[in-house]
Amino acid sequence: MKIFLDTADTDVIRKHFATGIIDGVTTNPTLIRKSGRDPEDVYQEIKDIGVKDISMEVSGCLDMMYDEGLRLSEKFGDVSTIKLPMTRDGLIVTRHLSKKLVRTNVTLIFSIAQAVLAAKAGATYVSPFVGRLDDQQVAGLEVVRSICDVYSTHRVRTQVLSASIRSVQRAVKSFHNGADIVTMPPDVFEKMYDHILTDKGLEIFEADISEINKL
Ligand code: E4P
Repeated sequence: MKIFLDTADTDVIRKHFATGIIDGVTTNPTLIRKSGRDPEDVYQEIKDIGVKDISMEVSGCLDMMYDEGLRLSEKFGDVSTIKLPMTRDGLIVTRHLSKKLVRTNVTLIFSIAQAVLAAKAGATYVSPFVGRLDDQQVAGLEVVRSICDVYSTHRVRTQVLSASIRSVQRAVKSFHNGADIVTMPPDVFEKMYDHILTDKGLEIFEADISEINKL
């Protein structure tokens, strides 16, 4: 059961990584663009923070994705996971990189069929997009559950990385449905700590402690 942060904001990653609870980071072109920085500067800083698994997305034609994936994996070493799109070319590159023992994350997964193909290509991770499925009136969590069931029935080693998470409920239900990893935006991670009854309970205990201290 691993928690990844879905962000390219290195200050936020540094803050949350210090908790010891974060197992990795996923980025994508949109998140990198939002950071306003060069992708490789971002990856280097995340690596320097100590994160051991960083998804780095590649794009373009088959040869471009392969060359870029290999170059990034050589530059950043063991911490790199090459993120590839769920396309025909993306899966060919997944297959070549996995033969070279490079970790891969097949992204933009929206169906069980796609997850089956990505596993056959040797993907380390598949990323079903829960939130974007929900937006289309398809239960994203059910897609996660079905992929996990199929992988478990057939003893597939590819891990399910639940992505496009927009709430604590979607994050924890992903684990409930069998996801190995959930990548979540930092604000969702923050909210996982909170419960109104914890706050109320703490208030009561603290009031009782101050009464005890008066004795
Ligand atoms: C992470 O791997 C995905 O790129 C990300 O979770 C997509 O999230 P979004 O649908 O909120 O953009």
